[in-house]
Amino acid sequence: MSHTPLGLKPALGWNSWNTFTWDINEQLIREVADRFVSDGYKDAGYEYIVIDDCWSLKERDAEGNWIVDSNKFPSGMKALADYIHSKGLKFGMYSCVGTHTCAGYPGSFEHEFQDAKQLAEWGVDFLKYDYCFKPRHMSGELLYKRMSLALKNSGREILFSACNWGEDNVYQWIRESGAHMYRSTHDIQDQWESIKKLALSQLDKTSYTGSFCHNDMDMLVVGMYGGSNNGFIGSKIGGCNDLEYQTHFALWSMMGSPLMIGCDIRSANEAAKATLLNPDLIAINQDLEGRGAYRIKPEPQWFHTNEVFILVKVLTDGDLAIGFFNLSDDQREISLQFWDLGLPYASGFSLSLYDCWEQQELGVFTERYAPTVPGHGSHVVRAKLARR
Ligand code: GLA
Repeated sequence: MSHTPLGLKPALGWNSWNTFTWDINEQLIREVADRFVSDGYKDAGYEYIVIDDCWSLKERDAEGNWIVDSNKFPSGMKALADYIHSKGLKFGMYSCVGTHTCAGYPGSFEHEFQDAKQLAEWGVDFLKYDYCFKPRHMSGELLYKRMSLALKNSGREILFSACNWGEDNVYQWIRESGAHMYRSTHDIQDQWESIKKLALSQLDKTSYTGSFCHNDMDMLVVGMYGGSNNGFIGSKIGGCNDLEYQTHFALWSMMGSPLMIGCDIRSANEAAKATLLNPDLIAINQDLEGRGAYRIKPEPQWFHTNEVFILVKVLTDGDLAIGFFNLSDDQREISLQFWDLGLPYASGFSLSLYDCWEQQELGVFTERYAPTVPGHGSHVVRAKLARR
C-alpha cells in the first residue's frame, strides 16, 4: 500500500461524541471497528475511529500520567489500538489545551510532551485537541504549536486535529501551527437549523481550507434521528430527515471538511448508509488537490437570499463538482450560467453532467443548467467539458 502523507486529504472516520458522549467503552469501539469492515465503511475510505472526551479518570497519577478508566476500557488503550490496527484502521483519542477537558477530565496543559509520548506508546494515530479550560494568560495559538511540536516528535505519526471552535482568528494561524485540521464551528446539533447555521458560517472561509490543514465543520449528524444520549446534541430536539442529512453530507463534502461519522453505525438504517457511503460525494471530498469551493449566486439576482447558492469545486482532473443548495424552506429553481464557471459559449464546450445522488448521467447541457431543488435539499453534479 502506498503511503499517503498525513493530513493530505480531509480525514474520514467515526467519533464517539455525538451519540454516546460520556457513555463509551472498549466493547463499543471494537464493534464500531468491526462494522467499519463488514458494512463497507472501510472500503469507502473511512479510516479513523476516535474516542472523544470521558475516557480517563478525573486525576492523573503521582508521576502526572493519565489513568485510563478501567471500568470503560478494562484491556487498556494499547490493546484497543492493536485491535483497531488489526482491522487495517486507525485509532484516535482526545485531549485538551487546558487544565481540564470540556467534560472535566485532565487536560494536557503543561503535560503536552508527556502526553504525546503516552499516545505514541499506546499506538494512537490521531489526537483531537479541544479548547476548554485554557489558562487565560496563555494564547491558544501557542498551545496548539506546543502540542503540534510534541506530537511531531513523539516517534509516531499522529494526525493533529485542533478543536478551538473557530475562535481567536484561528484561520490566520492554525496552518502555521502544524495542525492537520481545525474545528471552525461551535458544536453541531442534530437539527436542521444547526446544520444550516454551521454551513453558512463557513461560506466566506473557503479559501482557508486545503491540503494538510482542513476546515473541520464538526462531526456529522447523518443517521442520528435524535439518537444522542445528550439533550443538547439531539435527544431533546428530534433530529433531521433523510433529505436534510443528504444536504448536510453534500455541504461538508463539497466544502472539504473532514467527514467524521457521529451516528451509531451499528444501527444505521439504509438511507443513512447510502448517504455516508456515497462514492461520488466522497470522491469530491477527497479530491487530491483539496481546493476550497467557490460560491455563485444563482440567477435571477433579484431573489437575494444567502440560503440559496451554488458551490463549485475545481477537481484535479479538470472536472467541476457543482452543488446546488437550497437551504430555504420552499422549492426553488436554481439557475447556473456556465459563463460564471469560466465557460463562455464561444469556447465551443458544453458540460456533460453526472448526478452524484442519483448516480446517473444527466446528459449534455449548453450555456445553462437550472435544476429544481426542494427546500432543505441539494443537487450535486460532476461536470465534464464536452466539445460541441
Ligand atoms: C467540546 C467539543 C466537542 C466535544 C466535547 C467533549 O464541546 O467541541 O466536539 O469534543 O467538547 O466534551
